[in-house]
Amino acid sequence: MTHSTSRRNFLKGAGTLTAGSLLPMSLIELAFADISENFTFAYISDSHIQHIKGREFVRNWDQGLKRAVAETNLLSPKPDFVLYGGDIAQLGTKPEIDHGLELLSPLRYKVYYALGEHDYYLDLGEYWERQLGPQYYSFDHKGVHFVVLNSILTYEDWIKKWPTAEERMAVMAGLDNPKGSPFMVGEAQREWLRKDLDKVNKYRPVVILSHSPLQKLFRNWNFWTEDAEEIRQILHPFHKVTVIYGHVHQIQYNQIGNTSFHAAMATAWPWPYPSSYAQAQNYMPKLTVPMNRADPFFERDATGWQFINIHSGNVDMHYTLYDNTNRVVAFNERSGRPLDVAYQASANQIPPQKHF
Ligand SMILES: [Fe+2]
Ligand SMILES: [Fe+2]
Repeated sequence: MTHSTSRRNFLKGAGTLTAGSLLPMSLIELAFADISENFTFAYISDSHIQHIKGREFVRNWDQGLKRAVAETNLLSPKPDFVLYGGDIAQLGTKPEIDHGLELLSPLRYKVYYALGEHDYYLDLGEYWERQLGPQYYSFDHKGVHFVVLNSILTYEDWIKKWPTAEERMAVMAGLDNPKGSPFMVGEAQREWLRKDLDKVNKYRPVVILSHSPLQKLFRNWNFWTEDAEEIRQILHPFHKVTVIYGHVHQIQYNQIGNTSFHAAMATAWPWPYPSSYAQAQNYMPKLTVPMNRADPFFERDATGWQFINIHSGNVDMHYTLYDNTNRVVAFNERSGRPLDVAYQASANQIPPQKHF
């Protein structure tokens, strides 16, 4: 928190004081609002490293990740760490995870990892866990409580019904495969989350790193988290929560109650917006101004990575796009929600294609 913001908060509290109200809450807010510092970190996601054979990998996906790593290393000021948002691999194999980690290894910062479904459904996260540690965990950084979830779990019955691990992986890897199963955090992990957050001061900002959106946006493509409401219930007592998620490979943002949601870009390829599929019911966040996408067949105009500015516990997403104008979606204190700072005018938008 900057000196001037602290002062503004102080004055706000003082104003309430002179009004003669009871104001215990204002004083408590005043006391706890300043417990987080300002800092930056980077977020790289959805590289989908794809093995062909031997030492051959799909070059285009390699290039997307290499570029994110090279550009993140050039950031000034340096980010405090990097979060990797999941789907490092395409089909969860050892060569794909190993190659992805090798491409990420030049990063000069500590990297925290989240699991994506493409990393998980071959061996249920075993190799990933051996390389990178627990599938979900939390840590504190400069007054912000970070939680990394495995949000791509699904029903046990569905997991068991596949004759081979490869078939199970192939079905989950298809975006619009009707044989897929909705993602969830699951009861055991929700119980862990409840206990983890029990210890955390409710005025401390919480940032959740999740592969799936922790919202129900579009079931046909698994832009969906089955137990989103239960998770929101656990997060409800907190003053300020932000969820940053991968998986959707596009810019999305909205605000539900105390929680701001931001989606991250993929380094590999973009997905179209569900709202472009006119015949299917979807619940795309009302706030989202879709990506200004001129050419859906040229994936590089909608891929990239992001650096994130944390100020007073709020998250500003700076989308660094490889072949498109960079965008910033920043938390707007006045309206209490994330807003796109540059592309709000509809005149700037290229209408999305309609698919039937
Ligand atoms: Fe992905
Ligand atoms: Fe994914």
